[in-house]
Amino acid sequence: MELIDGNKIAADIIAELKTQVAALPGRPPCLALVRVGEDPASVSYVKKKETASASIGITSRMILPPVTITQEELFALIDGLNADPAVDGILVQSPLPKHINEVAVFRRIAAGKDVDGFHTMNLGKLAQEDDTGFVACTPAGIMELLQRSGVSLAGKHVVVLGRSLIVGKPAALLALQRKPWANATVTVCHSQTANLPALTRQADVLIAAIGKPEFVTADMVKPGAVVIDVGVNRVADATKKSGYRLTGDVHFPTVSPLCSKITPVPGGVGPMTVAMLMQNTVKARRQHT
Ligand code: GUN
Repeated sequence: MELIDGNKIAADIIAELKTQVAALPGRPPCLALVRVGEDPASVSYVKKKETASASIGITSRMILPPVTITQEELFALIDGLNADPAVDGILVQSPLPKHINEVAVFRRIAAGKDVDGFHTMNLGKLAQEDDTGFVACTPAGIMELLQRSGVSLAGKHVVVLGRSLIVGKPAALLALQRKPWANATVTVCHSQTANLPALTRQADVLIAAIGKPEFVTADMVKPGAVVIDVGVNRVADATKKSGYRLTGDVHFPTVSPLCSKITPVPGGVGPMTVAMLMQNTVKARRQHT
């Protein structure tokens, strides 16, 4: 079993982007980071995005509206960022409070500034294999991890566990692309799937993105499979100072010995999401000039 080191691969990409940013003409790229409320996981994720931006020379603008902001107020805030020529990319961290329609917010962001790739236009471009669009950062990071780890998807059976807008659906579309690094046969499973273990056991590459801690057990994995664990779950743990530990959607102790390669949590997919956001922001800056 080989661990796929997301920290190392993400650091390589960040270093490449730093060089590219330094060579860009005009002002540096600018990313607006909008975080509504104080959800602890979101606080941590957005901070990572801010730190990564600073490390490669991207200017970031933190906007921290209170959890009580109305949908109309959030729309107005986004409209302002859309109209601001100094802003290249806009990210609204998910999840949003229940009183706000998240998809409506994603659609409000100008497609050309939608570095998250959640806008209708960018999802449509992904389906049409139009590379001028933005691809959602976590799925893009998964493909990059696989390529840079020497895992070819062509002709392989990729099973995606989860159908979310943020991970499952775009990951399936990416693996299906007519590209040398894709060309997979793809099955998407979810909470209503019958005989789930029988399907996941067919996976040459299993992408677990269902948000259920340690859901994937050894009986669900084919020996020799590549397993990508997208889950970041906080599980209560009294032995930890924080009171919790992070665990993936895969039961790592029993599944990892079976795999040819597997991503750890933390240190697998997570850092790649941030690296791909940086890549999309640089792309947005280039498209704005
Ligand atoms: N929440 C979890 N992942 C993501 C992401 O990639 N982008 C945003 N905006 N929110 C998220």
